[in-house]
Amino acid sequence: MRIKTFEEYQTAYQQSVDDPEGFWAEIGQQFKWRKPWKKVLSWDFNEANVKWYEGGEMNITENALDRHLEERGDQVALIWEPNDPDDEAVSITYRVLHDRVCRFANVLKKHGVKKGDRVCIYLPMVPELTVAVLACARIGAVHSVVFGGFSAKSIADRINDSACTMVITSDGAFRGNKVIPMKETVDTALDQCSTVKSVIVMTRTRTPVSMLKGRDLWWEEEVKHVDSICPAEPMDAEDTLFILYTSGSTGKPKGVVHTCGGYMIFATYTFANVFQYEPGEIHFCTADIGWITGHSYIVYGPLCYGATSVVFEGVPTYPDAGRLWQIVAKHKVNILYTAPTAIRSLMSFGLHFVKDHDLSSLTKLGSVGEPINEEAWQWFKQNIGGSHCPLVDTWWQTETGGIMISPLAGITPEKPTYATLPLPGIQPVLVDENGKEIEGNGVSGNLCIKFPWPGIIRTTYGDHERCKQTYFSTYPGMYFTGDGCLRDEDGYYRITGRVDDVLNVSGHRIGTAEVENAINMHLGVVESAVVGYPHDIKGQGIYAYIITESKPDDAEMFRKDILATVSRIIGPIAKPDKIQFVSGLPKTRSGKIMRRILRKISEGEMNNLGDTSTLLDPAVVEEIKKGAL
Ligand code: WTA
Repeated sequence: MRIKTFEEYQTAYQQSVDDPEGFWAEIGQQFKWRKPWKKVLSWDFNEANVKWYEGGEMNITENALDRHLEERGDQVALIWEPNDPDDEAVSITYRVLHDRVCRFANVLKKHGVKKGDRVCIYLPMVPELTVAVLACARIGAVHSVVFGGFSAKSIADRINDSACTMVITSDGAFRGNKVIPMKETVDTALDQCSTVKSVIVMTRTRTPVSMLKGRDLWWEEEVKHVDSICPAEPMDAEDTLFILYTSGSTGKPKGVVHTCGGYMIFATYTFANVFQYEPGEIHFCTADIGWITGHSYIVYGPLCYGATSVVFEGVPTYPDAGRLWQIVAKHKVNILYTAPTAIRSLMSFGLHFVKDHDLSSLTKLGSVGEPINEEAWQWFKQNIGGSHCPLVDTWWQTETGGIMISPLAGITPEKPTYATLPLPGIQPVLVDENGKEIEGNGVSGNLCIKFPWPGIIRTTYGDHERCKQTYFSTYPGMYFTGDGCLRDEDGYYRITGRVDDVLNVSGHRIGTAEVENAINMHLGVVESAVVGYPHDIKGQGIYAYIITESKPDDAEMFRKDILATVSRIIGPIAKPDKIQFVSGLPKTRSGKIMRRILRKISEGEMNNLGDTSTLLDPAVVEEIKKGAL
């Protein structure tokens, strides 16, 4: 499965293009199957239909757990580092993890969860989160993990969209110096959900919580009364493994569906190759399991490859800005995979937070989630990687299941800010606005992928048409990523950012329409327009232009109230950084908001607004310019 040299990469890449089915069949054979597949691939991008390893039967947990028991049952699978550095870290071997997953799977079964049922998981970064995810997979239930920073309303929308029958949560969560309620938030969500029959509550903070008889159950109590044997449910390769909600350019987040076989193979193959994982290495991905990065590179990829994976409960700045480096030193971490926003933030605290810690265990570094600027790239490489660790800038998406364009650590020659070259099996193309492929090097355009790979999105839950429309209709015959991209003279790819109305704030994906909808729900708001602007640490900040019914008496207070509404409707991650009250928005005669102008103003580019003659009321632009923040 592992490529070892650049020549091998080139050969593998060529083979994956010449004979994709042969290529992926060979990799597929290295996993544990109950029944072999009948057909490696069938696909039709016009209908958004893709199937990999059809007819094959397997269970991802047999690959992530059972398969390792004989050879490395006593090897540590997970290292859990709690929020408070003075609390003890916990190491969980493959054997113990297997036991805990089987037990919890039996708890799920006991409470009526069956293959195909949807289970919502809303937990902090505790080992139980991984256990819950794998327990669902064990019995063929579909997990839908919701990031702990989302509001009750966001949870309710996600539960209702996929009609979840169970929620798994905790009493509270520790995050830095805060204690955050979890069960209480779930309770509020459940007032709006009729499909949920039971709630399992894990104890973390021992915050007082309401426990309803007949619905709510304690995790610790439940696992006492079940068996530790739970045979894995045989799954068709194309059965759904999980749903993960993500933002698009419309208001409603969509449930990206991934299936068992292809996702497993793609997450594992990319993990092994991009990070060049060597047996015994400690892999630390700082993402939250509530996002795709955590699914693929904390849980499934590392565990299916028999790696040791670190789960960190806290935040990089608690108790101080040296926390990540302290964890690296403490657990002798070899691979550190994090986001540019974290790097930029930690950079700003100064090097003395780095100097106290021994980082000599590090062998490889990775970056994900947003474009990485050269300064952050160099800082990470030099000060954290001691200039000798390869640094992989990995481009991919919730919809792609795993890494698509990235160097292979230590193999692909690096170039700062470039995701470099596609992995074997990935065929990127750049297209112009008319959908025409732009060939050759030294060009830029919209990034599409013209051939399926095993981890590709299969559908958006409950609405296949939406999947077709969003990803396969802009450029017929191709998967459209939503990203702009440059291919330089060497054929290296650099992702320049979203070309649609999706923002990337601190590596979190947020739709402008989602934020606008939330703002518009606030009393006294008539209309709003949201754009992203360059932000030194977050990558992008949120700038909201808001029309109100009347001039607010206390504008500052009104701003704060609006932030409270956005927090309540979506979650604190979607709060605008800047709010400007305006009397009108720049609209065309047909009523379309010209976001281009608002974006320019938010970037401070007042004199370069382009053609404004088609605006209904050009005077409004002058007013907005004057009041710009
Ligand atoms: C952006 C996260 C530049 C991109 C795995 C993409 C990146 C979106 C990179 C997906 C990178 C991710 N360089 N941009 N290395 N990685 N992106 O679904 O805009 O949360 O479309 O998946 O993040 O975000 P998502």
